[in-house]
Amino acid sequence: MENIKVMSVFGTRPEAIKMCPLVKELQTRPEIESLVCVTAQHREMLDQVLQAFQVTPDYDLDIMEPSQTLMRITAKVLEGMGGVLEQAKPDLVLVHGDTSTTFVAALASFYAKVKVGHVEAGLRTYDKYSPFPEEMNRTLTGDIADLHFAPTRANAENLRRENITKNVYVTGNTVIDALSTTVQHPYTFACSRLNQIDYDKEQVILLTAHRRENYGEPFQNIMDAARRVAQEQPGVRIVYPVHLSPYVQQMARDNLGDIPNVELVEPLGVVDMHNLMERVTLVMTDSGGIQEEAPSLGKPVLVLRRETERPEAVAAGTVRMAGVERDAIAQMALTLLRDPAEYRKMAQAVNPYGDGQASRRIADAILYAFGRTEQPPEDFAATAES
Ligand code: UD1
Ligand code: UDP
Repeated sequence: MENIKVMSVFGTRPEAIKMCPLVKELQTRPEIESLVCVTAQHREMLDQVLQAFQVTPDYDLDIMEPSQTLMRITAKVLEGMGGVLEQAKPDLVLVHGDTSTTFVAALASFYAKVKVGHVEAGLRTYDKYSPFPEEMNRTLTGDIADLHFAPTRANAENLRRENITKNVYVTGNTVIDALSTTVQHPYTFACSRLNQIDYDKEQVILLTAHRRENYGEPFQNIMDAARRVAQEQPGVRIVYPVHLSPYVQQMARDNLGDIPNVELVEPLGVVDMHNLMERVTLVMTDSGGIQEEAPSLGKPVLVLRRETERPEAVAAGTVRMAGVERDAIAQMALTLLRDPAEYRKMAQAVNPYGDGQASRRIADAILYAFGRTEQPPEDFAATAES
């Protein structure tokens, strides 16, 4: 019997972090021929991850442009994927999550009549403009996909409400697979400034912000809140690895560049990032992936958004929605820094998103769906509840 040709397609940093563990797993399966195509919607931030996980792409569309528009990303990925699919002729394309790479690679695969597997399926806010454009990207990808790998039972339920019931597998999130390989003790950071911090004595906040729907007033409010926290709690140190988006770079520099206890650093390699997260006091972020990682490391998270598609850790108490208003964000952060009882309430390790075995379940599900085994994959939700 011929091998199943599985092509994983991704383009941005978070997709790469969450797909590399799966690519590694697929490479171990004798029934599968694993190919990797990167769109390079991100360039440096993608290459950092490929290097960390030692994954070498078979195809690289190299589409990134400075300050790229959604129209340009879409047109270039669609065009580029057409050629790759024609040449590689995969049996299955795997896409991840909710970026423009995700949706457009799924669309191109549909046009080429190639089956699509959606990793991290079923996350929803039900607000098509928030997160923008991610909510629509993942919904449309769900419509196209043939196989759906939902991290949690709630994600699978969301799909069921959209009448997507066939080939839905609850697997856990591959981000926890990644995390279980990166955190180390003792650890020396590649970013040397991070080695100068005494994590046992200092209060350290890890801050990240990049979302398109926060551009404008919400982003300004987030910067103002960070400034206020740094000024009102002089002993605190805020570490902000700044996303390479020119908009984000400028906002960070203009608003926080001159504050002595705010460290603006380049985007961190993923191993540095995970080890930093493990050592800080508190995380403030509008990122999706970080909302999943920090709870499993027992770090309180303030989410700098109005809504989240990841309610599980909010329900568990480790994540709070801080919104996008300056005073509310600053007040929540200051309370956690000053009130040990409030802090302890949030600082519990919870793992609603995965157990480090998601890639194995996804690979098993692919073999099952292609009729190579009669054994259905293990269900993460059932494992978590037992
Ligand atoms: C993209 C995704 C978003 C995801 C985020 C993760 C879309 C529409 N957005 O948003 O869902 O949460 O990635 O970070 O798919 N840049 C570089 N080098 C890099 C990466 C980015 O210079 O390695 C700069 C470029 O000027 C680029 C800009 O950042 O044009 C924006 O990148 P883009 O992928 O369009 O948007 P993100 O905000 O990164
Ligand atoms: N990350 C990283 N270096 C950084 C910032 C983030 O490696 O400087 C990692 C982070 O640990 C998480 C992922 O990148 O795994 C999140 O990416 P991002 O916030 O860009 O996107 P989102 O998850 O919001 O789509």
